[in-house]
Amino acid sequence: MTNLAESTTFDVAKIRADFPILNEVVHGKPLVYLDNANTTQKPQQVLDALDHYYRHDNANIHRATHLLSERATRAYEGTRTKVQRLINAAHSREVVFTRGCTDSINLVAQSWARTNLKPGDEILITWMEHHSNIVPWQLVCQQTGATLKVVPITDAGELDLDAFRVLLSERTKLLAMIHVSNSLGTINPVADMIAASQAVGAVTLVDGAQAVPHLPVDVQALGCDFYAFSGHKMYGPTGTGVLYGRQALLEAMPPYQGGGDMIASVTFEKTDYNVLPYKFEAGTPNIAGFVGLGAAVDYLTSLDRDAALEHEDALLAYATERVRTIPGVRIIGEARQKTSVLSFVLDGVHPHDIGTILDAEGIAVRTGQHCAQPVMDRYGVPATVRASVAIYNTRAEIDALVDALDEARILFT
Ligand code: ALA
Repeated sequence: MTNLAESTTFDVAKIRADFPILNEVVHGKPLVYLDNANTTQKPQQVLDALDHYYRHDNANIHRATHLLSERATRAYEGTRTKVQRLINAAHSREVVFTRGCTDSINLVAQSWARTNLKPGDEILITWMEHHSNIVPWQLVCQQTGATLKVVPITDAGELDLDAFRVLLSERTKLLAMIHVSNSLGTINPVADMIAASQAVGAVTLVDGAQAVPHLPVDVQALGCDFYAFSGHKMYGPTGTGVLYGRQALLEAMPPYQGGGDMIASVTFEKTDYNVLPYKFEAGTPNIAGFVGLGAAVDYLTSLDRDAALEHEDALLAYATERVRTIPGVRIIGEARQKTSVLSFVLDGVHPHDIGTILDAEGIAVRTGQHCAQPVMDRYGVPATVRASVAIYNTRAEIDALVDALDEARILFT
């Protein structure tokens, strides 16, 4: 296969220049970073925002009258408005800052679900959930007596929508589902499933960690009650996350954690809680991280998002086509609607051995269960190799991946 030219509408070279880490040399080879579903790299703009914050603005937020505190507060709250616009939330008070997508889901589990569910109620999830959208609900089921139900997946890696319709009932109190699968790449029909769930009175939560970096997300158009995602998978710092929640639900929910900043008044007899979203932000948050996240949102929104997605989708199609030609390869996840993730196994070679060979060539992928053990069990594999693309990847990097895979095949089979 010839190495087709990069997209003419998306300037990858210009994008790559924004990411200093892409110049790293790994085991004597130029870094080929294809582990973006695990975490993305950070552009200079985000690094500069973090550096600037600590050099010039560092102070605690919301609590002091001095200038640095004002600047820190403005930057932190500025990110909230940027995130609100990014996901089209109706109001910034519906944007709660958390430690990450996992923390956002646990917040809903321990605040909304633990308070509202009882024996006989059902939580409906899907077979392709990340562990962070399974275990919090298992804990809540143990705490409340509710039951966990699971929508199966097809051989192609799509949700079985007939089974979904059978499983969905008046007993379903919550649908919690992944928007884009981190292990298969499947883009799920979330809007339709949300509408069907709301028709039976269920609350809906979407795990968007793997969606927000790639797809335009409009929480009002989706109609979901909660939407959770992480900053570090969208070019922002680790330790930052977002929970979008509908105001009426958030208002009615008890706090997730107690501490400073989430209160209006405290006596030993009684505490009144702060207004939204601060009721859910106890303690000093990751201020610098959220300043960095603001820069990441600015970065993402400064791109031509359609062209960026087209570039990523073209890369995924190219990688799929090339990897498929390697003898003994089985692709895990061939949904009609996919983005950014290519999971596969190679006959007779353990994914971890492939990962080691690729690493020696400077190529970073993830090998393992991808925090989605039920997906591995569904396909009868212990693990997969997962190459996941981002805006800065190139066809030449996919070619390097394919060459190294061929080397692994020859070595091990
Ligand atoms: N959830 C991350 C992944 O998919 C860690 O690799």
